[in-house]
Amino acid sequence: MDDKNSTESNLDYQGGRAAVRDGHDSVRREKPEPVAGGSNKVLISWVVGAGIVLVMAGGYLGGYSNFFDSSDSYIYPGYVAAARPVVEGVDTDAEQEPWIEVWMKDGKKVYTNCIACHQAAGTGTPGLFPPLKGSEWVDGGTERLGMIVLSGVLGPLNVSGSTYNQPMPAWGALNDEKLAQVLTYIRREFGELPEGQSGVVTKEMMKAAREKHGKRTSPWTEADLLAIPGDAELPGVEVDLNTGQPVAGE
Ligand code: HEC
Repeated sequence: MDDKNSTESNLDYQGGRAAVRDGHDSVRREKPEPVAGGSNKVLISWVVGAGIVLVMAGGYLGGYSNFFDSSDSYIYPGYVAAARPVVEGVDTDAEQEPWIEVWMKDGKKVYTNCIACHQAAGTGTPGLFPPLKGSEWVDGGTERLGMIVLSGVLGPLNVSGSTYNQPMPAWGALNDEKLAQVLTYIRREFGELPEGQSGVVTKEMMKAAREKHGKRTSPWTEADLLAIPGDAELPGVEVDLNTGQPVAGE
């Protein structure tokens, strides 16, 4: 009983008996019974924490998800797409306009110079200004046409069975490209193209016309024009209507 190391000397058991000690030991082995309401503090803090997370997540989704509309959920308001880069020689746009369409549109613009007399539909003004539609001059070769637009015409001129006698102004002040475009336009829009011909007049053809006939400072007469064969064509290579480039093998 006096041994210091013996549990018998423990204050708890001072003077106690084995039966009392055993009773305490069994109590000490057990975990305390949960007390009603006591551990709820832990539970409440978890619920509050989860609630805060949910509110924040909801706010984030509401702000950035675009309500799950997949069409533009990755596009911020005010986003403007940059223009696609143009790569030389690569057809980046499947709907790219064929060269001839652009050439004709430009020709139509140049044709605004002619509308006052020859009219938008190329029908002319009876007795004053000859029609381009149905005209043998438009349907014929390009050399005469090049001469007519470069220096104009003066004096009587027969056009599809009628004689006109008003001055046709000279358009030599317009560059080769513009004249080529307007001639292409009147031929394709109003003319009866010979079988298998595209009606295209190129810049090079107008350049050749200017080299041959450009020194003329006064308008042509009908006799001057008739001196040139009706089917005489200005020199130039055939071009691809899609690209405007010379057709290979020419
Ligand atoms: C001020 C009026 C006037 C304008 C503008 C004019 N023309 Fe003419 N054009 C005439 C007349 C008038 C004749 C006939 C000339 C004659 O009687 O000697 C003629 C003749 C022609 C002819 C040959 C005859 C025919 O009808 O096919 C062609 C081609 C032609 N013009 C094309 C043009 C083109 C292209 C333009 C515009 C770039 C143009 N003309 C602008 C008055 C005009």
